[in-house]
Amino acid sequence: MKSATVLGILQGEQVVSSRAKKVTTHILQEMKRSNEKIAMLTAYDYSLARLVDEAGVDVILVGDSASNVMAGNDTTVPITLEQMIYHAQCVVNAVDRALVVVDMPFGSYQGDSKLALKSAIRIMKESGGHAVKIEGGKEIVDSVKRILTAGIPVMGHLGLTPQSIYKFGTYSVRAKEEAEANRLMEDAMALQEAGCFSVVFEKIPADLAKKVSETLDIPTIGIGAGPHCDGQVLVLHDMLGITKDFSPRFLRRYSDVGSAVDKAVRDYIDDVRGGSFPAQEESY
Ligand code: KIV
Repeated sequence: MKSATVLGILQGEQVVSSRAKKVTTHILQEMKRSNEKIAMLTAYDYSLARLVDEAGVDVILVGDSASNVMAGNDTTVPITLEQMIYHAQCVVNAVDRALVVVDMPFGSYQGDSKLALKSAIRIMKESGGHAVKIEGGKEIVDSVKRILTAGIPVMGHLGLTPQSIYKFGTYSVRAKEEAEANRLMEDAMALQEAGCFSVVFEKIPADLAKKVSETLDIPTIGIGAGPHCDGQVLVLHDMLGITKDFSPRFLRRYSDVGSAVDKAVRDYIDDVRGGSFPAQEESY
């Protein structure tokens, strides 16, 4: 249920707004301070974003995983800035309460902080999103700082960074070795010092995620990073059981929507072919 806000007292009656209190980057930082876990999920379209927001998730990520989930690409590399803006517009239209964070796609920020600022401004202006997320550590600090000059909040993303898949070669767990773990720690500090309001850790050992979450003042959000992060994120279509061919160890499936859709569509086909749909009462 959406939370109601008391606006004031009129003739002895409370005047209550049905609009939910919006989640802000400051609220997320307060949640870390008071040990309240942050729940984040992806969404890419109006209908599912509306359900996710109404259920009370704190952050909706318009992830560039849309490239895989929505478009069927093998990687997140091909999705464009225009496509991300489109998905973000659809989500923003649905959301009352959650903070909407939009992934900056591959090629829209790397190696050029002016380009990063320009892309981030387009995302904010054209989609109405509330913040952007970018992948990388020290190498993107200039971009983070420049984006922040426009008042745009930035979320970082370390560990497995899918836009660099051709550099890594695999989607396996990152930072298992000491040298890479130290580098990740330094990158996380650099992102915090640059002004990121939060950072995602993807597929890193739980002990490392614990250490870095305890060290940083900003909230950490884990995916495949164990239970000690300040929040968790999953790809909505994976946790709903819509995508079937992706079963990493970190993924908990909360539903089997894929099977429900399959059954509903098969029943519909049978009814149409058998002539039982539409019935009299479904006709004019
Ligand atoms: O694009 C995405 O869905 C993400 C999450 C996996 C964090 O970046």
